[in-house]
Amino acid sequence: MQIPDITIAVDGYSSTGKSTFARLIAEKFGFLYLDSGAMYRGVTLYAQENGLISPDNVIDPALEKALETLDLHFGQGTVLYMGERNIEKLIRTMEVSAQVSPIATVPYVRQYVDRRLHEFSAAGRVVMDGRDIGTTVFPNAEIKVFMTARPEVRAQRRFDELAAKGQNPVFEEVLKNLEERDYIDSHREASPLRRAADSFELNNSDMGLTEEIAWVEGLIRGKFGLLDAPEEIPGIGADKTGTV
Ligand code: CDP
Repeated sequence: MQIPDITIAVDGYSSTGKSTFARLIAEKFGFLYLDSGAMYRGVTLYAQENGLISPDNVIDPALEKALETLDLHFGQGTVLYMGERNIEKLIRTMEVSAQVSPIATVPYVRQYVDRRLHEFSAAGRVVMDGRDIGTTVFPNAEIKVFMTARPEVRAQRRFDELAAKGQNPVFEEVLKNLEERDYIDSHREASPLRRAADSFELNNSDMGLTEEIAWVEGLIRGKFGLLDAPEEIPGIGADKTGTV
């Protein structure tokens, strides 16, 4: 299916499968995929490595100035770089997950990330996932998806992901981290996680990837009138005899 040059916003709670879904859309329709959460994780890693956040999440105001020159960008295959350094692995640890939501409440951090995201997506044909893409970053996105899934399904997915990377996760810790982040993300003042009024909800607790793609294809077809030639239904349609 050929789809127009649109922006697709995918938002939702932690570990609802947003990035897998967005990545697939990008692959299938030839879109650029941008992971906004990776940017918040990159800022968190920077703050941790430079002593700009304390263990109890007190953020040094010097971070604001540092962001003026912080070079976070995506390389091949959406891998995140800090300057020359590939930080993709480092930003996916529980240590970063533990402090990313407090960092993401800070308005100047959000402004930094939003500015970078707009720079990266200037050429259009973008699918971006996060918490506030359909509400704040791209309020005019043509297609907005809000993803949900049962908490235990989400925790199991994240647990499996971390285990596959050899990080020895503890299930209760993973679940607690997801719940804490969801709470902070939906209660913060700056761009809280909210379902955009014009978004479509996708609960994928019991869905496979093929079904998810079929679902979004249906959405896009419906919105843009990209319908396949309808199959002939007996008794309906053109009257081949020419009689009335
Ligand atoms: O992968 P997961 O769904 O667990 O999270 P993520 O997309 O990597 O995002 C990590 C954190 O960044 C979230 O818990 C939010 O605190 C923050 N975030 C945000 O505030 N706004 C976004 N658009 C994306 C992420």
